[in-house]
Amino acid sequence: MFITFEGGEGAGKTTQIRRLAATLAARGHPVLRTREPGGTPHAEAVRGLLLGRGGWDPMSETLLLFAARREHVTRLIGPALAAGIWVLSDRFADSTMVYQGHAQGDDRALIATLSRATLGPVWPSLTLILDIDPAIGVARAVGRGDANRFEAEGLAFHRRIRAAFLEIAAAEPARCVVIDASGDDEAVAAAVLAAVESRAA
Ligand code: TYD
Repeated sequence: MFITFEGGEGAGKTTQIRRLAATLAARGHPVLRTREPGGTPHAEAVRGLLLGRGGWDPMSETLLLFAARREHVTRLIGPALAAGIWVLSDRFADSTMVYQGHAQGDDRALIATLSRATLGPVWPSLTLILDIDPAIGVARAVGRGDANRFEAEGLAFHRRIRAAFLEIAAAEPARCVVIDASGDDEAVAAAVLAAVESRAA
């Protein structure tokens, strides 16, 4: 299975991916954990360009993200899935639709076209949207001390992000499950595992 974790800042995606990977591995599944932007050396180099500085032309930013994603899909995710490995990714194409499309106003039709044109058959079978009030999530992210340029945006930006993820979830219920990420790690992990088990049968 190819499972993606999505959501706003400070929703706890990284912790939850680690937990799910450990649970799946303990059950004997080979698992690969990865992230976007990034996942391969070239894509990680693009990550450095994107997160390090703002001021990108919106379409340039989208194209860079898809260049990184194409590297990730062709060199890492696709081969892993072909080898029967479960792939868990911290963010994927929904993040571009939400951050660049909905929140920054880049052309959403172009983003959908790029997804279809550049990713081939690689598309998540399950997307877990970790949902949290941005006032709590951003405070958590800032508290971690690793705020990037998106985390520095105002609350209105983060509310647009939350609404956009929920809109995608409502439009694609066969792929997306919304997880309430406001509880403690244990409770969120249980909800994540339940969603995976219900889809992996
Ligand atoms: P990261 O520190 O991994 O943040 P988080 O822990 O919230 O995932 O940084 C990734 C940032 O990049 C995050 O703020 C969202 C942003 N991003 C986009 O804007 N578009 C994208 O397509 C992706 C994958 C990420």
